[in-house]
Amino acid sequence: MLDNNLKDKTIVLCVCAGIAAYKSVEVLRLLQKQGARVRVIMTQGVKEFIGSLTFQVLSGNPVFTTLFDKGEDSSIRHIEWAEEADLVVIAPATANIIGKIANGIADDALSTFMLAVKCPVVVCPSMNTYMYENRAVQRNIDILEGDGFTIVEPGTGELACGVTGAGRFPEPRFVVDRIINCLSPKDLLGKKVLITAGPTREAIDPVRYISNHSSGKMGYAIAKIAEFRGADVTLISGPVHVESPLNVTIIPVLSALEMRDAFLSGLDDTDIAIKVAAVADYRAKQTADHKIKKNDDQMIIELEKNPDILKEAGMKKKHQFLVGFAAETRDLVENARKKLDAKNLDMIVGNLVGDPSSGFGTESNTVTLFYRDGKKESLESMDKEQVAHVLLDRIMARIRER
Ligand code: CTP
Repeated sequence: MLDNNLKDKTIVLCVCAGIAAYKSVEVLRLLQKQGARVRVIMTQGVKEFIGSLTFQVLSGNPVFTTLFDKGEDSSIRHIEWAEEADLVVIAPATANIIGKIANGIADDALSTFMLAVKCPVVVCPSMNTYMYENRAVQRNIDILEGDGFTIVEPGTGELACGVTGAGRFPEPRFVVDRIINCLSPKDLLGKKVLITAGPTREAIDPVRYISNHSSGKMGYAIAKIAEFRGADVTLISGPVHVESPLNVTIIPVLSALEMRDAFLSGLDDTDIAIKVAAVADYRAKQTADHKIKKNDDQMIIELEKNPDILKEAGMKKKHQFLVGFAAETRDLVENARKKLDAKNLDMIVGNLVGDPSSGFGTESNTVTLFYRDGKKESLESMDKEQVAHVLLDRIMARIRER
């Protein structure tokens, strides 16, 4: 099973002199949490910001700072570490190191090591905005990109120097996400994946609406993992508060009718469609132009049925692998199977909402996969990104069998 684990991976973390150097400690910790073995190379200037002992103790390895260390094997360490690395991450990367690597200059431990590196490299430029926008720096970043390096765009905001703009060290978890992405097998390369996530919102008047508790987390997790695995991903999203995955096309929608238009117009061009969204089954027959006043003791809102988007997709589908989600409070097996047949799906993912380990807003999910041929598979409770991996594993296996 594919997962986000970095177990058995050796990662060399290169830290350059910058005020953000302390944030690379968090990158180191997060990498270790994923099971990676981390080695650290520091430039001489970093010592002005953070001591090598911090990295030495946390990584459990000697820190490489100079080509002429007194250590036993320091003279060849840059070659050995380059050979043994599964991935190198330079975080923070200064204008200086970016310039050196782009131009093949090797005048210290880090730049010399970089000339011997053959594995994927992730670079996190982090510096003052004016420096970052400088044409020479941008030219050098373009060279690195052209040479196959992965550049993590810096964050934007107020920098330590007081300037507001691009140049901030990205959130450490973004850096680690990009690293996992680089090391993920790209088994979905060439596949177009269309996903819907979150609730829909059906307006009653300009200030009120009908909706549900869907957080969007499951759909966003599938979009993120599908992108990690190389797919071209489009995510049609209802209103949610979830971080947008990188390199995913996001189409924001509010109502079921908007979701229907976006989903059906993307369907023809799609290989795998996964409909996670919790669509409101009904909408107000009439939406008031102005806020409704509380004049009467009782109020009746007349509702009309929304179209069943997935059912329409099931009727239209040709080559697409179509997956639905069924959130139930009881009779999961019976209800999920009924929906699979009625909507002409290839698979439906059922879960019982209400359980603390499963359903709306939780970080984990306990699901059962129901297949077209009548088979079913109950998965243990796991993290939503893990569920996404298993789901994509199973979808790809079924597609290969076709
Ligand atoms: N769905 C849809 N359009 C709707 C309702 C549901 O596309 N109008 C999709 C959901 O995105 C999900 C699947 O159908 O993938 C099942 O949704 P669910 O709300 O569990 O079931 P319903 O078909 O709405 O049936 P019921 O509400 O009666 O359980």
